[in-house]
Amino acid sequence: MSEAKKFQPFSAPKGVPDYVPPVSPEFLAVRNTFAHQAHLAGYEHIELPIFEDTGLFARGVGESTDVVSKEMYTFADRGDRSVTLRPEGTAGVMRAVIEHGLDRGQLPVKLTYAGPFFRYERPQAGRYRQLQQVGVEAIGVDDPALDAEVIALADRCFRSIGLSGFRLELTSLGDDTCRPAYREKLQEFLFKLPLDEETRRRADINPLRVLDDKRPEMKEMLVDAPLMLDHLSAESKAHFETVLGMLDDMKVPYTINSRMVRGLDYYNKTTFEFVHDGLGAQSGIGGGGRYDGLMAQLGGQELSGVGFGLGVDRALLALKAEEQQVTAGVRVDVYGVAMGADAKRRMVSLINDLRMAGISADMAYGDRGLKGAMKGADRAGASYALVLGDRELESGQVALKNLAEHTQEDVSLEGIIEKLRALLG
Ligand code: HAM
Repeated sequence: MSEAKKFQPFSAPKGVPDYVPPVSPEFLAVRNTFAHQAHLAGYEHIELPIFEDTGLFARGVGESTDVVSKEMYTFADRGDRSVTLRPEGTAGVMRAVIEHGLDRGQLPVKLTYAGPFFRYERPQAGRYRQLQQVGVEAIGVDDPALDAEVIALADRCFRSIGLSGFRLELTSLGDDTCRPAYREKLQEFLFKLPLDEETRRRADINPLRVLDDKRPEMKEMLVDAPLMLDHLSAESKAHFETVLGMLDDMKVPYTINSRMVRGLDYYNKTTFEFVHDGLGAQSGIGGGGRYDGLMAQLGGQELSGVGFGLGVDRALLALKAEEQQVTAGVRVDVYGVAMGADAKRRMVSLINDLRMAGISADMAYGDRGLKGAMKGADRAGASYALVLGDRELESGQVALKNLAEHTQEDVSLEGIIEKLRALLG
């Protein structure tokens, strides 16, 4: 007898999570709950490509960001076009809005999306190379009421899955009329400091990002750095204050973090992050803000936008940290148990008929005996079991067990679907 060749099993690529039962139903529940909340607020679903022209992200997200310069999955396809697995959703939404002329209709255009994004980051707890987000974008109207709507929606998304141990951090990054002058002021301050070469380069390209330096000696040096919030134009300041007032009205709690630095370059005015304390270093469970220059940057009209991306992976980790659960998993209403080959055959088509009638149903497979099969009914969370043996089959009946009340009655096979429909309401 020849020995069967043994192959090494594969693992998922590094930094890429699988969601398998019993966690996968929770994953789905989180994603669906976020999407449902977005629908309740009038956001319509948009389904976009997983890969796009590389230039879209380079131009939209910003060449100097880590996301674009270090983390993109970029490759040449067989036609030698440079394509990139989407690292985020906003640029793609904007591309599609322009391409399909959605911005020529009723404004704001309110869209929501869900799915995987790809960033070649160093994997660690809560930081993945394939990450999942639910996002919304509200495009075309520069109204602080939209910023407030988007932020309150994110807050509601997290609360509706049962999270409470998070906080909302908020700031304003100003606009075209005040940011350039502030940038100069900050650079003036930074260039007087004894910066290492890398930091000096950062100060040159994107000085705001230097404010995010976590090293204690840098933090100390940056204590007196000028802050954007103290240099806002009158218009940006009024916009920000209106947003805060509306959040107060809606009782959405927040803290101001004037040193917040987002990893994407398109933001202006209101920017925010939701931070969870139970997650260690990767504490951002969602973030977003206004991006008024992005549409024009991508070749469209001069229209504003505001939105967020919520991290589904991290929301799940946060639920675990808070010892919360969103669902008990998939359950069916009816579970079939058949004893003997003829009964099995009849049960297969009965379960199919139940499913055709819109009743959730499953059955015992393999030959497990009555006791083992009834355990399956338990595991499936069924309310009713249908037991079919030779005796029942002969008399055209099936035993209907009410699993909660431990009662049983015989029902005719012809009438069982109607009977179950009535019982399940
Ligand atoms: P972002 O802050 O880069 O924003 O990502 C949003 C959320 O995605 C983060 O708060 C985090 O929860 C999750 N996330 C990001 N990277 C990872 C990772 N490597 N592993 C696990 N989770 C991660 C955006 O992507 C913007 N497009 C959001 C937006 C929409 N702004 C305006 N509109």
